[in-house]
Amino acid sequence: MCEKRKQAVPGVGDRTARWMLVGEGPGAEEDQRGEPFVGQAGRLLDNMLAAVGLTREEGVYIANAVKCRPPHNRTPEAGEIAACLPFLERQIALVQPRLLIALGRPAALALLNTEVSIGAARGKRFDRKGIPVVVTYHPAYLLRNPQDKGKAWEDLCLARRLVPPA
Ligand code: URA
Repeated sequence: MCEKRKQAVPGVGDRTARWMLVGEGPGAEEDQRGEPFVGQAGRLLDNMLAAVGLTREEGVYIANAVKCRPPHNRTPEAGEIAACLPFLERQIALVQPRLLIALGRPAALALLNTEVSIGAARGKRFDRKGIPVVVTYHPAYLLRNPQDKGKAWEDLCLARRLVPPA
């Protein structure tokens, strides 16, 4: 995917954060600006973080399962997620978050190495090499399905109970 994108979008945020959020991959705006979640879904994500007292500058690090924009914003394939995984693993090793939050299915696949349905996986505590993982809806999904925003809020409250962000 590196052949078609403008730039790689590794991540943004607090390098000492207790929470690391993992999305799917950069979209058009992220590819232009080099920062994850700067489009409409990103604004919703910022609002959700603000509701638990976090900003993308403090307390949280935001990364994606893949670092290059998939052509036409398609969902990254399992092989592409696997190819990018060493970068995500290095980010986790450097930031040493106490909690991982998977935003959507591709992020859950990257972090848990399993295909999950978000409806079934959300609201539970998973584990990645000793780090608790919470799976929730992707903010772009929530923009299309605002009726599920309440569940995403419950998932953030679960995350906060497991590991207070600050
Ligand atoms: N959606 C994602 O999953 N990641 C981004 O960086 C932007 C939108």
